[in-house]
Amino acid sequence: MNSLNHLAIILDGNGRWAKKRGLPRKAGHVAGAKNVETICRAVYKRGIKYLTVYAFSTENWKRPDDEVNAIMKLFDGYLDDCIKNCKKNNMVVRLLGDRKGIGKLIDKVEKLENDSKDNTGLNLNIAINYGSRNEIVNAASLIAEDYKAGKIDKIDEDILGEYLYTAGIPDPDLIIRTSGEQRLSNFLLWQAAYSELLFVDKPWPDFDEQELDKAIEAYNSRDRRYGKIKEEE
Ligand code: IPE
Ligand code: IPE
Ligand code: MG
Repeated sequence: MNSLNHLAIILDGNGRWAKKRGLPRKAGHVAGAKNVETICRAVYKRGIKYLTVYAFSTENWKRPDDEVNAIMKLFDGYLDDCIKNCKKNNMVVRLLGDRKGIGKLIDKVEKLENDSKDNTGLNLNIAINYGSRNEIVNAASLIAEDYKAGKIDKIDEDILGEYLYTAGIPDPDLIIRTSGEQRLSNFLLWQAAYSELLFVDKPWPDFDEQELDKAIEAYNSRDRRYGKIKEEE
């Protein structure tokens, strides 16, 4: 059986979930945000140490203002709840993304990161204003600066990893995308080099514990070879 230490999920399908019910897209995001809490608890109960959720991409700013504002308002409320329940939740929360682009939310993010850093439960990484290409370009420019300043004297895979937003976080073992689309949409392109990928049809608000268990079962039956051949061959 494969060990599942880090699960990453592309939370897709909130809009379609709402449309199917004759509701505004915003209602889908509300349901989606609620489901993050449910799945956090479920993931931790199953012994998974890291959960990364892709909630808003660098490309999602291209959506209509009222949808973007609704998502940011939800994120703001989620941060308030997390700050309030920080001890009870026991989660270590970290933002993955371009911190310069989220306005005044950054203050709450940094407070939550700081308040939660000594917790011992689930490591929850929230990818907001996240884009893998942005992350890699940011890392490359920081590396160039540090190399020029003599702070580093070589550039290799490990060093590049240390300059990514995910520094110190193990690569995801499994990446799930909900709602049927089969693409990564600029998510963890570097870190996903050897991740198992799973695409499920249910939209994110309907992804429940039963779906999670099916996903874990599918992951356990995968043969992760990392370029090698199977031991017995
Ligand atoms: C995912 O749901 C949430 C975000 C990308 C912010 P979508 O809003 O993309 O839902 P669909 O894909 O339009 O159904
Ligand atoms: C991917 O979903 C980003 C997030 C879930 C945050 P999108 O709905 O933005 O992706 P595309 O546009 O279908 O590729
Ligand atoms: Mg979508």
